[in-house]
Amino acid sequence: MKGIVLAGGSGTRLHPMTLAASKQLLPVYDKPMVYYPLSTLMLAGIRDILLISTPEDLPQFRRLLGSGARFGVRFDYAEQPKPEGIAQAFLIGRDWIGGDACALALGDNLIHGDHLSATLRIAASRPVGATVFAYEVRDPERYGVVSFDADGRAVDIVEKPAVPASNWAVTGLYFYDARVSEIAGTIRPSARGELEITDLNRVYLEAHTLRVEKLSRGCAWLDAGTPDSLLQAATFVQTIQSRTGMLVGCPEEVAFRMGFIDAETLRQHAAGLGKTELGRVLGELAVGEHD
Ligand code: TTP
Repeated sequence: MKGIVLAGGSGTRLHPMTLAASKQLLPVYDKPMVYYPLSTLMLAGIRDILLISTPEDLPQFRRLLGSGARFGVRFDYAEQPKPEGIAQAFLIGRDWIGGDACALALGDNLIHGDHLSATLRIAASRPVGATVFAYEVRDPERYGVVSFDADGRAVDIVEKPAVPASNWAVTGLYFYDARVSEIAGTIRPSARGELEITDLNRVYLEAHTLRVEKLSRGCAWLDAGTPDSLLQAATFVQTIQSRTGMLVGCPEEVAFRMGFIDAETLRQHAAGLGKTELGRVLGELAVGEHD
C-alpha cells in the first residue's frame, strides 16, 4: 500500500499565520505539523509516500523532507494548483498510485493512542473496499458525520451537516483499495466547488465496501486548523511527551520502531538534533533505554 499526505489548502482560519507559510509547516510544539500525519502513515507500515501541496509551498516541504532516506521511506512530491478538494488527491496522484491501494492522511491531523499501529496495519492490509475512522466529538457539524444503525453498521455520511445525526466525525485518515482513483474520477464538485472526500466515501458506503471503525477511547484525534486547536494540539504533545518520556508524531522514532532504520542511523539523527530534547530522547532510544 502507498500513502498520500495532503498538505495544501488555504489555511484561512489561521490567517495571518498562514499568509506567508504553509499551515502544515507551522510548529505543533516541537515538530512541524506535517510530521504527525507522516508518522501515522509510517505506523501503518507505509513506505511509499506522496506529499501534495501548493506550488508555492512544495519547495519548502522538499527542503524539510528530502528523499525520505532519513526516515527509511521514499517521498515523491506533487502540486495541487488550487484547493479543489481532498478527493482531488487521488486524481493528482493517479499515475503515481498506479495499480496499488492507497491511504490518505490530512496534513493537519494528529492521531495518537493505544494499539494504533496494529489497528492501522489491519486497515492497510484489507485488499478490497475502504476503511475510515470515526471519533466522537462535541462539534460534529465541522466534519463529515457518520450515522450508525442499531447493529453499529454505518448507514450514512454527511459533510458538515447543519443538524448532525450523530456525534461521530470521520477523521482525516482514509484507506482505499486500488479502485480509488477511478472512483474519484466519477465524483463531481460540490456546491462549494470541491471534490469532497465524503462523496468518495459515500460511493464505497453505497457499494457496502466501506468499513467505519470507531476509534477507541484510548486514542486521541486532533486537527490543528484553528488557533485554538493548534494550541490544544501543541499542549497535548507537550503533556504526553513530558509526562511519559515517549514521543508523539516523531518520524525518526517510528522509523526505528518499524525497522525502517537501524540503531546506528537513529543515533546519528539524534546527534544531528544537537541539544534539543527530541535529540536526547532519540539518543536514548538508539542505545536501548526505552522499550
Ligand atoms: P481544511 O482545513 O478543510 O482547509 P484549509 O487547510 O484550506 O483551511 P481553512 O479551512 O482554514 O481555509 O483542509 C483539511 C486538510 O486538507 C488541510 O491539511 C489542508 C488539506 N487540503 C488540501 O491540501 N487541499 C484541498 O483542496 C483541501 C480542501 C484541503
